[in-house]
Amino acid sequence: MKEKTTFLRDVDDGFSHDPKYISSYYFYDKAGDELFQKIMEMPEYYLTNSELEIFEQQTEPLILSFEINPNEEFELIELGAGDGKKTQYLLKALLEKNFKFKYIPVDISQNSLSVITQRMENLFPNLQIDSQQGDYFRVLDELFISTKPKIILFIGSSLGNMCDEIAKKFLNKIANHLKKNEKLLLGLDLIKSKKIVLPAYHDSAGITRDFNLNLLQRINRELGADFKVEYFEHVPEYTETEGIAKSYLKSTKKQTVYIKKLSKSFEFDENELIQTEISRKYNDKILHDLLKGSQLEIKHKFLDSQKYFADYILVKK
Ligand code: AVI
Repeated sequence: MKEKTTFLRDVDDGFSHDPKYISSYYFYDKAGDELFQKIMEMPEYYLTNSELEIFEQQTEPLILSFEINPNEEFELIELGAGDGKKTQYLLKALLEKNFKFKYIPVDISQNSLSVITQRMENLFPNLQIDSQQGDYFRVLDELFISTKPKIILFIGSSLGNMCDEIAKKFLNKIANHLKKNEKLLLGLDLIKSKKIVLPAYHDSAGITRDFNLNLLQRINRELGADFKVEYFEHVPEYTETEGIAKSYLKSTKKQTVYIKKLSKSFEFDENELIQTEISRKYNDKILHDLLKGSQLEIKHKFLDSQKYFADYILVKK
């Protein structure tokens, strides 16, 4: 028998588990990347504009907080680079100030990397850019073979898609790689009322619903399943006390789905939920707890005018 791909194995494990789940990692195929792009442009998805405002209006203090030595070339590594719309403000200012650096966008999606590389090459013909495709947990080890000073960007509140235990491990891993005084710019969505958070995951145009359902379509396309997506509903929820938005797909009737590549069927009860995503929101205390025992400490915090979002500068002790 052929060895199972990670996707196949994860789908098998997730659908065999009670309750069922699939990692949001699998949202991002080509169709998912395009839908996420649309999400970032939706009026309800305040995260993008809030962080964009920080990058646009506080570029100078952000750069100062990096404490870069102007005589030494450094590497600006962006984990989960997306479309680079926010980062372009930093790049522009760094180039204008004649800093010597290489920009290294890292993403699981080759498609996203091609878009960002094209965009940055058009905007900044003098920019040194060297993209790296891969899961950033793994790519980190390779990136740190180079001994050049580094600044890591991990923005967009992508950390929030990891449960706290994994987030803690990830921050620890970054900390272990960094040298003393090197920085991590970490962009986090802040805990706020349900009135603001929930619509970001339950938009009126149904784009987030399509983004969530694309997961089942991807399983159909890549693993030969026969999901009928019209029998599944997008179910988002958010509790302010917990500070975590969760997304599910709910089976609207009792049904059986066959996955060809597994030669296996799965039963879904009426109203049964598949958990597909968590999006944690943060405050200083939660971040402090995640950093406990790591070599990182909070040095600065930049907020947007509505205080919806924070870009933290963490420094290696
Ligand atoms: C990429 N990540 C931070 C987004 C979020 O807000 O959790 C993904 C997303 N899911 C639904 N809408 C956007």
